[in-house]
Amino acid sequence: MNNFQYYNPVRIVFGENQIEQLSNLVPTDARVLITYGGGSAERTGTLDEVRTALSTNGTREVFEFGGIEPNPEFNTLLKAADMVNEKNIDFLLPVGGGSVIDGSKFVALVASLTNEDGTVSRDQAWDALTGYCKNIDSAVDLGAVLTIPATGSEMNSGGVVNHSDRQAKLPFGNPLAFPKFSILDPTKTLTLPDHQVMNGVADAFVHVMEQYLTYPVNAKVQDAFAESLLKILIKEGKAVKADPDNLETRKNIMWTATMALNGLIGSGVPQDWTTHMIGHELTSLHGIDHARTLTILLPSVMRELKDSKNEKLLQYARNVWHLDSNSDTKQDDDSLIETAIVYTENFFRDLGLPVSLEDAELDKSAIEPIISQLEAHGMVKLGEHGSNDLTVSRRILERALISKA
Ligand code: NZQ
Ligand code: ZN
Repeated sequence: MNNFQYYNPVRIVFGENQIEQLSNLVPTDARVLITYGGGSAERTGTLDEVRTALSTNGTREVFEFGGIEPNPEFNTLLKAADMVNEKNIDFLLPVGGGSVIDGSKFVALVASLTNEDGTVSRDQAWDALTGYCKNIDSAVDLGAVLTIPATGSEMNSGGVVNHSDRQAKLPFGNPLAFPKFSILDPTKTLTLPDHQVMNGVADAFVHVMEQYLTYPVNAKVQDAFAESLLKILIKEGKAVKADPDNLETRKNIMWTATMALNGLIGSGVPQDWTTHMIGHELTSLHGIDHARTLTILLPSVMRELKDSKNEKLLQYARNVWHLDSNSDTKQDDDSLIETAIVYTENFFRDLGLPVSLEDAELDKSAIEPIISQLEAHGMVKLGEHGSNDLTVSRRILERALISKA
């Protein structure tokens, strides 16, 4: 196991009707900006619950900023950051999914980068984003109300922002962006459209894989946790498909997705993130949902990198899919791995998710623009060994053209 520091200050408040806890969690004299997305939080009544809780116990002044897009847009977020300064906001409260929470983290981090007229400097904010927001040393406090289990943003300090005009979707991370708390009410997920539920399961699954499927460092806790999370997602993913109204299933999916990317299973182990970094370019160029870019790419990443990931792939086949003990014949290592990859593809397919570029109606003409964008964004040394250059990324994309299974 490698050396590590694990720090996670996020208070998780989990369960039905827990939005009312906002009256205790948000400082009583705060000037709060509620941020939300395209309207689901209003339609489902969640925003009303939030407003009521904030008006209880205290003298808070509450403002609202709606319209944060899925894959949150830089320009929209800077409008919210201007509002933070205009209204002297000292607490941000995103109500939504990864996009609203990530976007609000970015707002919290860049709000102090102002011009002389008090507006947030677009140039400085862009520079901050291209530098992963690492050098920012102050931020507005933030707490979150999660409405879609998927990204883990509710319990981590990272995010991703999209800049359509520049065709760039870029990650950032800064410990100041940890939410003070996150409220996870699983009943809120019952209003999600079916495809968003499946996206969430797949995103969480791939988060685990990015931190697990590298090379062994004898990290027994991290490996066992990761394998458990994968098995739960496989089981509960199928369960939610069959019985979407089952609240117990929703609860387990919600907590699993949070655990998948809160830093725990990634501590002291090598991490990959190749699938995510190529996936961000697919979203930015073709507007494909984040999770779907991952299910398109992961099987090809596994096949292309099967030599360097050999030991973990075998461990995955045995411990997650129980392959050698189930098979009638003793398969050699390569076919065991291929079977595990096919099982992974079938799992994604069963959730109604694409597993190839063809499934997303893209052909080989899509590949070179993605490679150019990876180059433009400095994504030229991906993976746990930093050895996935553009040639490797091209091969991954070529493998992803048509699904093998
Ligand atoms: O915008 P509204 O109207 O709210 O609708 C949203 C949106 O259309 C809808 N929705 C959310 N909760 C709902 C609901 N509809 C009905 N009922 C509810 N309870 O769902 C749609 C998708 O929302 P979004 O926030 O975009 O989804 P998700 O949570 O999957 O977030 C995706 C974003 O997170 C980034 C992705 O790149 C993407 O930009 N990620 C963030 C990470 C992180 N912070 O650690 C890691 C991830 O790998 C990921 O990159
Ligand atoms: Zn993701």
